[in-house]
Amino acid sequence: MPDTHDLLIYGAGGFGRETAQAATAMPEWRLLGFVDDDPDRAGALVDGVPILGGAKAIEAAPDARVVVCVGSPTGYGVRRRIVERLGLPPSRYATLVHPSAWVSPSSRIGPGSVVLAQTVLTASARVGAHVAIMPHVTITHDDVVEDYATIASGVRLGGGVRVGAGAYLGAGALLREGVVIGPGSLVGMGAVVLRDVPPGEVWAGSPARHLRPVPHRKESP
Ligand SMILES: CC(C)(COP(=O)(O)OP(=O)(O)OC[C@H]1O[C@@H](n2cnc3c(N)ncnc32)[C@H](O)[C@@H]1OP(=O)(O)O)[C@@H](O)C(=O)NCCC(=O)NCCS
Repeated sequence: MPDTHDLLIYGAGGFGRETAQAATAMPEWRLLGFVDDDPDRAGALVDGVPILGGAKAIEAAPDARVVVCVGSPTGYGVRRRIVERLGLPPSRYATLVHPSAWVSPSSRIGPGSVVLAQTVLTASARVGAHVAIMPHVTITHDDVVEDYATIASGVRLGGGVRVGAGAYLGAGALLREGVVIGPGSLVGMGAVVLRDVPPGEVWAGSPARHLRPVPHRKESP
């Protein structure tokens, strides 16, 4: 029986709920509940898992590890902002890999990252910190996925691809070998990416073409 660690999942939306379900298949983690900033949700049960409250719930469980599971195609940078606001050391973060995913011995995954079911990392792939990888993603030799990137379900990366920090790859996108996706860019679902995507742009289609810039984010006061 492996050692068990307490786990908190920050965010009780779609990705957080998926991660909570995945954690039920990982005997090394004991899920305490969700952390969620909406005070009206505290005490609620989501898929049978309690919402414990806002960030104070992390202070109340100093031995628990944390994963920040927020991020939608339109959530530009929100996961990074939460991690920066929490200010926790990397050792407080869990790295969660569903048991049906396959991570080659030469591949690496950073703290706070989540890899959902059936994903494969073939050889010498590097996945940074706080990266979200949905089910059925294929990451092949020498790919680099930088911190805070999100890869939606069914994406396939050719070899030597670089996905910049905070970039979002939409469901089912295909990336030719060696392409570079600029930091903060968004690739639409089903895109076939044949060329490098500059930072901060939305590309979509087959072959993928520039659609629009990523909107400038509004800072809350
Ligand atoms: C690319 C994307 C961000 C564009 O969203 P948007 O800016 O709101 O764009 P719109 O829906 O207004 O569409 C703008 C144009 O782009 C086209 N378009 C939108 N998404 C497209 C896509 N994925 N592939 C090809 N064309 C697309 C639309 O048909 C439209 O074309 P038109 O102007 O000729 O009518 C979005 O469609 C997308 O693919 N998001 C990723 C979704 C995803 O993978 N979610 C994962 C679930 S967890």
